[in-house]
Amino acid sequence: MHGAPGAVSKIAARTRATQQALQPRKDTKLLSTEDSRENLRIGIVGCGGIGGRHLLSYQNNGHTPAALADAFPEAAAKAAEKWGGKPYGDWREMFAQEQLDAISVCTPPNVHREISVAALEAGIPVLCEKPMTTTLADAEAIAQAAESTGTLFFIGHCHRFQPQIQKLRELIDAGELGAVRMFRTRIGFHFLRAESSWFTDAEISGGGILIDTHVHSVDIFRYLCGEVEEVTALTSTMDTPLGPAMRVEDSAIMTVRSTEGVLGVMEASWRTPPGEVQVTVYGTAARAVVNYQTLQLTLQKADEKEARPIEVEDANRFDREIEHFLACVRGEQQPRLKPEDGVIAIRCLMAAYESRGVQVL
Ligand SMILES: NC(=O)c1ccc[n+]([C@@H]2O[C@H](COP(=O)([O-])OP(=O)(O)OC[C@H]3O[C@@H](n4cnc5c(N)ncnc54)[C@H](O)[C@@H]3O)[C@@H](O)[C@H]2O)c1
Repeated sequence: MHGAPGAVSKIAARTRATQQALQPRKDTKLLSTEDSRENLRIGIVGCGGIGGRHLLSYQNNGHTPAALADAFPEAAAKAAEKWGGKPYGDWREMFAQEQLDAISVCTPPNVHREISVAALEAGIPVLCEKPMTTTLADAEAIAQAAESTGTLFFIGHCHRFQPQIQKLRELIDAGELGAVRMFRTRIGFHFLRAESSWFTDAEISGGGILIDTHVHSVDIFRYLCGEVEEVTALTSTMDTPLGPAMRVEDSAIMTVRSTEGVLGVMEASWRTPPGEVQVTVYGTAARAVVNYQTLQLTLQKADEKEARPIEVEDANRFDREIEHFLACVRGEQQPRLKPEDGVIAIRCLMAAYESRGVQVL
């Protein structure tokens, strides 16, 4: 579904066009100071795994949900029992019945567009989970709806809120790494029961681990290393002792180059236990590593024998993301992520799918 195999994709020119077309509007609709309330009326659409994480983070930020919707009414009812709020079996009814100040969209990606556009058109600010959509056209349609309605759309690229990643950005900005030259991410684990999940149904997910997981790596790269100019990818699935070949790729490698010439390698697999999430940035003066297992950021300068840990405040990325989203809804902060950040990530991933497989055999 991602087009024929082809050569390397150049995407920076289209990225610039997206950024120009989607300049943030000065009149973006946010609650005015007079309207702002401590306890905003939050709605959740999709009460599965990540919906639960959003609910916990809203709670950690002092918010009980006003309402929750799930296509499976039992899921909404169960979540309402645990977190509070009124359960709905249909998000349309929830939008009509509740005066919501904001929603989290925590459904599978194939319905992100429909739900987000309806919310934006109703003037409800949206925090939408990654990946923004399953197609570039859908992502652009959401961005256009945010632009034309002037309503906040916030894409949930949560790793920008990971304390070690934020600190690493500070180190890069302070020149501690010298000139950044290379970047690497490794996200690997064993995804139990993947074969029977919507994650491996491309009609719902948009693809396999490439769209699901590299969406994070692309955003981390853009945050730390600059705008993506070129991408390539290789993907694979096979029968293994952990399970049969999937309908989508279970493993993927993506390479990227920034407009400034920074090179990145992104690896991910649903079939490689033990779990590992690691981000490394290599500069002319130092190497920095973020290890999500130990929650450590280490830095090793060119003339140092060993890497040393860098002190980082302990915080949960989802708590921080939702704290920021709530502040944006209240008009107290400017969004750190714009609709175009979602669109550009999807463009990179679609280009990566299209670039697969220059054959040598
Ligand atoms: N940011 C992260 O690190 C992270 C982690 C996991 C998942 N996600 C993303 O969150 C989204 C949801 O993933 P999940 O793991 O929670 O999936 P899930 O299957 O656990 O939960 C999805 C829920 O949405 C409901 N749903 C499906 N279609 C719906 C519709 N049309 N209206 C209302 N409810 C509907 C399902 O019934 C289910 O309860 C996906 O986009 C996924 O990629 C992000």
